[in-house]
Amino acid sequence: MGVGFRMFIIKFGGSVITDKKQKYTFERSTILRLISEIKEAQKRTLVVHGAGSFGHIMAKEYELHKGYKNEGQIQAAAGVQKDVKHLNLMVLDSFLEIGISAVSLAPSSFVINENGKIKSMDMGSFKRYFDMGFTPITFGDVVLDDAISFSICSGDQLMLELARTFLPEKAIFVADIDGIFSSAPQSDESPKLLPTIDEDIFLSIKKSDSHVDDVTGSIYGKLEIMFEIASLGLETIILNGRVENRLKEALQGKDIVCTKIESRH
Ligand code: IPE
Repeated sequence: MGVGFRMFIIKFGGSVITDKKQKYTFERSTILRLISEIKEAQKRTLVVHGAGSFGHIMAKEYELHKGYKNEGQIQAAAGVQKDVKHLNLMVLDSFLEIGISAVSLAPSSFVINENGKIKSMDMGSFKRYFDMGFTPITFGDVVLDDAISFSICSGDQLMLELARTFLPEKAIFVADIDGIFSSAPQSDESPKLLPTIDEDIFLSIKKSDSHVDDVTGSIYGKLEIMFEIASLGLETIILNGRVENRLKEALQGKDIVCTKIESRH
């Protein structure tokens, strides 16, 4: 593959880089700080970002995750593709502003789904750009689907495919929360952060009743993918990107407040 050392793969969740409840709200200062932390840690990365309010609201309204059902969806799918590209351009701008030479790779042109899951993904460009010293960035998108015409490719699924190909030193999910709690922090008086979570604990956690729009399975779908990454034998963590230096210290290998995903498979 030509990659001489292991890099980190990082997903900036849509909840960190946008306000998920309000359309088109880009958290510019947060993303700039997070990118500065990558720069200060001096680590090579592949970066994925979610869609947040730039994708989920309209995708849910038109049920784009369920594939083609009616003509009205075509305009909506085109609109969501444009909106996530718009968000991506702002993320890309932020990387360049901090001095990291990022290049953007849009899943709509190199990912094919089948029933909402990635069926094939061309990794060639990631490898070539990375080997030259670029930082490839990709993002949750609307993509072609061999079974249902089009569907959503989530940033989490992209993380899994990148993890399989590049076997990174760590897979880091940057969220707006410290990690996974024993019960939903909004509804419990004294929620407890779980430093580690395994499949048994996962199954026993009660389903969160968050009303945030999400077409890619909310935290449960995301956790399932994180378990798949962990089962590859890769260190997989979820940390709070709203707290300064957590990302930097995770990249530096320090002990930080987070939840580590542990798979027994
Ligand atoms: C969603 O991607 C993509 C679209 C809705 C088009 P993600 O599922 O990775 O986004 P976040 O992180 O939940 O916002």
